[in-house]
Amino acid sequence: MTNEVARAVDMVQTGGASDSADPADQADQADQADGPQVVIRRLREDDQDALLAFGAALPKDDWLYLDVELQLPATVARLVNAVEARNWRQVVALDGSRIVGYANVRQLPGWKQHVGDIVLVVGEGYRRHGVGTALAEAVIDAARELPVSKLILEIVEEQLAGRLIFKRLGFRLEGLLEDHAVDYLGNSRNLVLLSHHLAAVDR
Ligand SMILES: CC(C)(COP(=O)(O)OP(=O)(O)OC[C@H]1O[C@@H](n2cnc3c(N)ncnc32)[C@H](O)[C@@H]1OP(=O)(O)O)[C@@H](O)C(=O)NCCC(=O)NCCS
Repeated sequence: MTNEVARAVDMVQTGGASDSADPADQADQADQADGPQVVIRRLREDDQDALLAFGAALPKDDWLYLDVELQLPATVARLVNAVEARNWRQVVALDGSRIVGYANVRQLPGWKQHVGDIVLVVGEGYRRHGVGTALAEAVIDAARELPVSKLILEIVEEQLAGRLIFKRLGFRLEGLLEDHAVDYLGNSRNLVLLSHHLAAVDR
């Protein structure tokens, strides 16, 4: 594990027991209520099977909201192969060895090369415990390693939780893209464009 990756490791205070050997972690966790203990770290090459299992378990409803087809083995293979890619940063949330959340930021090509595009998804059984917020914070942090000065997120208009998370983290509504996505059922959907400028001092 590089220093860079080690900095990205974080604990989400969602409760439950941990197998951490660090006594400070154990003391913190002693007070926590019941619930999953989730660790956030960078995606690794050996995560392919775990990411495949995560993607396969996503409810079909999520496919309506996601721009990344995590349910497809080819997509998962492409993401895992990109762990060292210059223009990507990817983070996962784990409960033990199980991936329960995924986020990435990708530096766009061409004249948008100063822009990073974010994707975020949390497994159905792990929502509303702060995992989405922790992953969003981690991926924004990771984005600071990329040569980008602006972060964007395109979210289906109805996806209130995602909008709330990123607005709290400083993103603003930049626009509404009408009929900008067609979901797997063939329905047109409006997307909202959220954005955030990274201060030079942050990078
Ligand atoms: C969007 C998503 C990542 C949120 O993950 P999460 O782990 O539930 O997020 P958090 O627990 O950090 O919740 C953040 C806030 O959103 C709220 N929230 C979560 N789900 C909600 C829902 N369905 N409706 C309204 N508010 C919701 C939470 O209550 C929390 O607010 P609070 O702190 O005031 O309680 C998850 O719902 C998801 O993966 N959805 C499908 C994929 C998707 O739409 N991705 C695109 C969004 S970027």
